[in-house]
Amino acid sequence: MAPAVAEPLAEAVVPHSAAPSRAASAATEPAEPTERAEPAEPAEHIAPAAAASAPSRPVTKRYGPLTPKQWVGASVVGILAIIGAATIVVQLTRWFIGLDFMQDFLASYPGETPLPEGAPVGLPAWLGWQHFFNVFLIVLIIRSGLQVRTEKRPAAYWTPRWSKSGQGKISLNLWFHQSLDILWLVNGIIFVVLLFATGQWMRVVPTSWAVIPNAVSAGLQYLSLDWPLENGWVNYNSLQVLTYFATIFIAAPLAALTGVRMSGLWPKNATALNRIYPVEWARAVHFPVMLYFVAFIVVHVALVFLTGALRNLNHMYAAQDAEDWLGFSIFVASLVVIAAAWIAARPTLLAPIAGVFGKVGR
Ligand code: HEM
Ligand code: HEM
Repeated sequence: MAPAVAEPLAEAVVPHSAAPSRAASAATEPAEPTERAEPAEPAEHIAPAAAASAPSRPVTKRYGPLTPKQWVGASVVGILAIIGAATIVVQLTRWFIGLDFMQDFLASYPGETPLPEGAPVGLPAWLGWQHFFNVFLIVLIIRSGLQVRTEKRPAAYWTPRWSKSGQGKISLNLWFHQSLDILWLVNGIIFVVLLFATGQWMRVVPTSWAVIPNAVSAGLQYLSLDWPLENGWVNYNSLQVLTYFATIFIAAPLAALTGVRMSGLWPKNATALNRIYPVEWARAVHFPVMLYFVAFIVVHVALVFLTGALRNLNHMYAAQDAEDWLGFSIFVASLVVIAAAWIAARPTLLAPIAGVFGKVGR
């Protein structure tokens, strides 16, 4: 086992580290391959040679899954490459925004667009609850969606109670996904109604075109690591406004419209409608929307923690603009609730609940 570990590792490293030097030596002394030149051959040249000297070992084996050691090596190289690339981007951005005309641009567009007159200050408790239910549900929605995507032989099926001859039979995971979706939609509709009823919409809906140059400005400030001042209690920066807007008013409706199209709720016989909106479109869009949500959540949560965690968590989880640990504690408690639901959501518990709404079987 040991040589098999060492050899592909050497191959993986050689073409990167030694290929240029080999190219250089080949240019100067083409007819005289030195001893060092042997192992420095690129992988595609080595493989047949090695196969010839050891015919019992198929060539393809050498490119099999990475061993743990190789994973560590590849990860270290990958991380260093990312840090290197990020450093270059940060330095280039700093140089760019240091130019005179960019200084003028940043002075005119500081990254935040003024709120309309009479906009509310601060985040009310209802918004924190809405946000919590949204996080709770979307974590389970993403998980159950991925389970639907990957399951080969579902543990159980669910059939609507009113169904005759087993029509509308779906896997238990898909039943769970869709049940969560209904709760998520109800939560989302209440959220949007309250946003508009309380004026909170002004914080997450752009109200002037200046939001675009301001978002560019905020983006450049993030890239330069000289981050826009956090003022989330009063006003989000313009990049936040655009992102929250897109999440609430574009991504969520897209998930719903494409999801409903694939679900049993959609009329099967509406020929004209189904020609205008084929189910393949829905399927093609639904999954990338999930990827958007995952990317949003990763960046969103990272920024919440990197731009004044205690204060930000107090805003959303304790409805206060303070530096104490209350919001953080509530946040941790909310994670415990989500983890408990994650662990509990297995067929033994889901089947009896699904059984209330239909027939569960195999
Ligand atoms: C554990 C995960 C999460 C944490 C810790 C978190 C935290 C926060 C915080 C602290 C804010 C306020 C930002 C500020 O005061 O500057 C916020 C706002 C927001 N978050 Fe999250 N969030 C999480 C997950 C999510 C998810 C999954 C979504 C949507 C899919 C989401 C959507 C939003 C939106 C739309 C806002 C703006 C709300 C408004 O002001 O109306 N968040 N989040
Ligand atoms: C009202 C909202 C939603 C409805 C009605 C809905 C409905 C559905 C349905 C019917 C399927 C099964 C598709 C099939 O036939 O294979 C599905 C799959 C899936 N859903 Fe949803 N969904 C909704 C929201 C979401 C959200 C918000 C996410 C993630 C953020 C999500 C993630 C997924 C994933 C990852 C799959 C598997 C996709 C695949 O097989 O390519 N869904 N959804």
